[in-house]
Amino acid sequence: MTEQASGSTATAVRTSLERSARIALHRVAKRLPGPPPALSRSRPLATPPPGSGLKVVMGDYGYPVIGWAANWMYASPLPWSDAVRDTYGPLAWSGMFTKRVINVGTADTVQQVLINREGHWSSEHGWSWIIGPFFHRGIMLLDDPDHHRDRRIMQQAFTRRRLEAYLARLAPVTASRIDAWGSGRLHAYPRLKQLTLDVATDVFLDERPDGGSGRPSGPTINRVNQAFIDCVRAGTGVIRTDVPLTRWHRGLQGRALLEDYFRDKLPAHRRSDGDDLLTALCHAESEDGERFSDDDVVNHIIFLMMAAHDTSTITTSSILWFLAKHPEWQERVREESLAMGAAPDGDVLDMRAIGQLTSLDLVMKEALRMVPPVFAMGRMAVQDTELDGYFVPAGTPASVSSLPVHYDPELWTDPHTFDPERFAEGRREDKRHPYGYFPFGGGAHKCIGMHFGQMEVKTIVHQLLRRHRITAPAADLTSVATSWDWTSLPKPLDDLPIVLEPIS
Ligand code: HEM
Repeated sequence: MTEQASGSTATAVRTSLERSARIALHRVAKRLPGPPPALSRSRPLATPPPGSGLKVVMGDYGYPVIGWAANWMYASPLPWSDAVRDTYGPLAWSGMFTKRVINVGTADTVQQVLINREGHWSSEHGWSWIIGPFFHRGIMLLDDPDHHRDRRIMQQAFTRRRLEAYLARLAPVTASRIDAWGSGRLHAYPRLKQLTLDVATDVFLDERPDGGSGRPSGPTINRVNQAFIDCVRAGTGVIRTDVPLTRWHRGLQGRALLEDYFRDKLPAHRRSDGDDLLTALCHAESEDGERFSDDDVVNHIIFLMMAAHDTSTITTSSILWFLAKHPEWQERVREESLAMGAAPDGDVLDMRAIGQLTSLDLVMKEALRMVPPVFAMGRMAVQDTELDGYFVPAGTPASVSSLPVHYDPELWTDPHTFDPERFAEGRREDKRHPYGYFPFGGGAHKCIGMHFGQMEVKTIVHQLLRRHRITAPAADLTSVATSWDWTSLPKPLDDLPIVLEPIS
């Protein structure tokens, strides 16, 4: 056996062991006692000002130090928030990593916090205690006036003209990577993660790490990929200071690597007139003539790459998972994709062609409802405030959660059923409340990459279905609650084994 072959066998064995350990850990954690009052007494979050008439938010801390974090993350946030609501009512607090966090999980309260009309809620403080050291000065971690200024500049990198240019670069990278997969059994999640990183490397940085060969990316970009993973995972580390071998430590090392990596690239992109995202950020100028400094560009591209990479991977994974489980939808989506004509032209989607893939659009919307990649958004009250008649004191962190709203039986018919038609004209269940459906967030921080993300996901699924029929052998992992790992952004617990069968 060659050294390379034995190396890849060792990696495969390690990956398989890690996967089994992850599934076993989740099975054990789901049996942890909870929710309250199994372990600790309920207490008020704070006493409302006398005469205010505001209600008290009740809750309890849970396990020492980590609070209810393990139950929340391992047992899936959905049954967890259902249990907390059943115990304490619509607004409650829970212990999480030494903090008392309120769970904002109704359409009305989400709307109030995300719209943030009175400026009582901070995204900077809400996210900083979770991922601040790894993504500081990223746009989501800014409040006004800095957020307003930077968003106006960044918007210039997401104009329609720019999007068309990104889209034109997408199709060839995607097609070459999918062709390199071949057919047969594979784990879709790691493949998709690699694919979306390759897309980001090309479209965002104008780099082809493999020299256009279609082979998986080289060692440098793999280290960058690992650095992003470490930065994202660090946010849910139990030890939240720089101690060797911890998630936190790896996240800090990852951040240092990313800063060096992107700073090295800046001079060339400042000079370039290319159509990649990094160059666009280097030249972006708001209507008031404001531009980004080098530090701004580095901070923003690190955040953008992270924001784009994981979310698209998760969305594509969940779509494939649902299509494998619902072959009738798979056929329907494929028919529209095949109608785009023979490759290579039929592989390439412009914005008009994407608009014609209506079944894929319905499926994507439903996948984003059931598995929203950013299922909890961080905010913090920066002033004493009122929420749905409750008193929330300044300094309270909030988890703005889409899962309980996306499964609210008052808003959705049979919410646990995969039913893309619920988004079709005539039903439009997503219109029952302005904040009944918000996979891309809302208010000032609403996803700036929403259109690009959807184009990317649709291009990948379109090209895959044109080539292959997809089946999933993992029939034992059947429900959203049992099949996904929610310990940071959601990912399929079993890495999503699928079989690709070529279409003759
Ligand atoms: C299907 C894919 C995606 C989903 C589901 C998604 C979801 C979200 C959500 C929920 C937020 C709001 C976070 C908050 O308010 O705290 C957000 C913000 C953001 N997203 Fe996305 N995203 C996706 C793709 C992308 C892509 C492709 C990019 C970049 C090209 C991107 C860049 C951003 C940025 C920069 C923000 C922060 C905006 C701000 O604070 O002003 N996202 N995203």
